[in-house]
Amino acid sequence: EKGGWTSFMAKEVSEQPDAVANTLRGRITAEQVVVPELTEFGDDVLAGVRRIVIIACGTAAYAAQTAKYAIEKWAQVPVDVELSHEFRYRDPVLSEDTLVISISQSGETMDTLMAVKYAMSLGAKAISICNTQGATIPRESDAVIYTHAGPEVAVASTKAFVAQITALYLFALHLARVRGSLSAAEQAAQVAELQAMPEKIQTVLGVEDEVRQLARWMSDTRAVLFLGRHVGFPIALEGALKLKELAYIHAEGFAAGELKHGPIALIEPGQPVFVVVPSPRGSAHLHPKVVSNIQEIRARGARIIVIAEVGDAAVLPFADTVIHIPLAAPLFEPLLAVVPLQMFAMELAIAKGLDVDQPRNLAKSVTVE
Ligand code: BG6
Repeated sequence: EKGGWTSFMAKEVSEQPDAVANTLRGRITAEQVVVPELTEFGDDVLAGVRRIVIIACGTAAYAAQTAKYAIEKWAQVPVDVELSHEFRYRDPVLSEDTLVISISQSGETMDTLMAVKYAMSLGAKAISICNTQGATIPRESDAVIYTHAGPEVAVASTKAFVAQITALYLFALHLARVRGSLSAAEQAAQVAELQAMPEKIQTVLGVEDEVRQLARWMSDTRAVLFLGRHVGFPIALEGALKLKELAYIHAEGFAAGELKHGPIALIEPGQPVFVVVPSPRGSAHLHPKVVSNIQEIRARGARIIVIAEVGDAAVLPFADTVIHIPLAAPLFEPLLAVVPLQMFAMELAIAKGLDVDQPRNLAKSVTVE
């Protein structure tokens, strides 16, 4: 039921604080992450994992790319992220100490299901991250961490995405605890960041009017670029995907560091570019690099919309529009920065008179290969 909302998408965007809070519930004890489903799967097995391969499609694959940074930093296990359909049809090298994690909102995406079955047939253990109770992928897997985002009806994924990142962060912190790779104080600090996310996401939802204005001004835009660095990179990709899916606008996300290796050639006067800016406090080494990217494209006439931490004064002189997100540790910024990008795509689609819940040619879950 849509309730008082104009679309399921608007409703689901607004439900993101709850999606995160509900996914955290019951999985944090005494400032530590203890995911009961993982304890049952076997902490001894987790302690022996030498490599993690995450398989997913679409938005779920961007959740995986985001979490790669956290899993490698906290649990110190190498992570590869693979699109399910690519993974399945090459000859991936898997050994018994490889853990495969699939991510699927529906739990029914055929490519992901086939990739899970294939990995298990080669001897890998498989954990599913899924939003749909009793779906096929979790049933076929060795263990499941359910995201509790609630049913997602709009075709373009929003609240499931933030819930997937949350579940993956819980996984990373559980793994870090059993492997002893984080001190108790570091674990507690990450737990506190996680617990603060629902309220911070709620704050970001307040940029709605600003984003709607922006989308209205931009309703005849033909192409939009998105730049991000570190965890902002998969968020740039997700921002571009949302815009393609909903507003049928050519959109591309790039790693900001790649700018000089090609994308800068696309910049001409008036070209809109969204830049997800890392925190000047938390990412002091990356922030100036991204600011200098902004200056480079600004000098070529780009129209710049930045998503930046509150109080980031360095971006102000070079941005046409600044959308603020609350302070958070760098690995947690994606959960905040993605929200205005979702809203922008939705509002631009609305401004163009499009159906945001049922974009043309797309299905909520693709159950054929
Ligand atoms: C696409 C949906 O077809 O499938 C996307 O439109 C989604 O929103 C992708 O991210 C993967 O779906 P699932 O259910 O496996 O997460």
